[in-house]
Amino acid sequence: MSSSPIIRLEGLEKTYDLGAIQVHALRGVSLDIAAGSYVAIMGPSGSGKSTMLNMLGCLDRPSAGAYYLGGDDVSKMDDDELSTVRGKRLGFIFQSYNLINQLSVIENIYVPLFYQGRDLNECYDHCEKLAKLATGTEILNLLDKLNAEGKTIVLVTHGEEVAERAHRVLHMKDGVIDHEIHQRTLQHVVEALEHDSVEEPPAP
Ligand SMILES: Nc1ncnc2c1ncn2[C@@H]1O[C@H](COP(=O)(O)OP(=O)(O)OP(=O)(O)O)[C@@H](O)[C@H]1O
Ligand SMILES: [Mg+2]
Repeated sequence: MSSSPIIRLEGLEKTYDLGAIQVHALRGVSLDIAAGSYVAIMGPSGSGKSTMLNMLGCLDRPSAGAYYLGGDDVSKMDDDELSTVRGKRLGFIFQSYNLINQLSVIENIYVPLFYQGRDLNECYDHCEKLAKLATGTEILNLLDKLNAEGKTIVLVTHGEEVAERAHRVLHMKDGVIDHEIHQRTLQHVVEALEHDSVEEPPAP
C-alpha cells in the first residue's frame, strides 16, 4: 500500500491495575489501518475488543506502546489534546447506551458537533437523522455510506453478517490479534471480472 496508514499501533499494551491483580487486556498489538478502510474486530468475550476500541477512540490511554493517528502520536497526549482529537477526527456510535434512548443519541451527537463550532441547526438536523435510525441494518447501511464517502470505519461485533461488510476482519484472542482475514470486497469482484473479460472466450 502506497499511502501511509491513518492508524498505526506499535506494541500497544493496556494493563488494568486492580491493586491485588493486574489485568493485561492488550499485550502488544501492532497494526496498520489504511485510510478509507472498513475494519471489523471479532473475538471471544474478554479478548480485548472493547479495550482496543477505547484506545482507537482516544477514550483511554495505553499503558505502553505507541498509537499514531494520522501521523500524530496520541498515546503521549494529555486530556485536553485527546478531547480535541476526539471532537475533530473521530466519530462514535455506541451500541448499548445511546441507541436505546433518543435523547441520549441527540446529546451524544449534538455535543461533539457543537464543540466543533458547527451551526446549531445543522447539529440538530444530524442528530434527528441518526436518532430516527431504528434498526441495526439502517445503522450498518449508514456506515457503508460513510465508508463509500472515504471515512475509515472500525467496529466491534460478534455477528458474522455484520463483519461481512468490512474489508478486513481482525480476530482477537487474549489481548493480541490472533489472525486476520481480508475479505473479498465488491472492488475485488469488479477487478476479477475485468481481468476475466480480457481473456478470449473458448471457440464454439
Ligand atoms: N475497566 C476495567 N478494569 C479492569 N479490567 C477490565 C476493564 N475493562 C476490561 N477489563 C478486562 O480486560 C479484559 C478485556 O476486556 P474487554 O472488555 O476489552 O473484552 P471484550 O473482547 O470487549 O469482551 P466482550 O466480548 O465481553 O465485550 C477482560 O479480562 C476484562 O475483564
Ligand atoms: Mg466488549
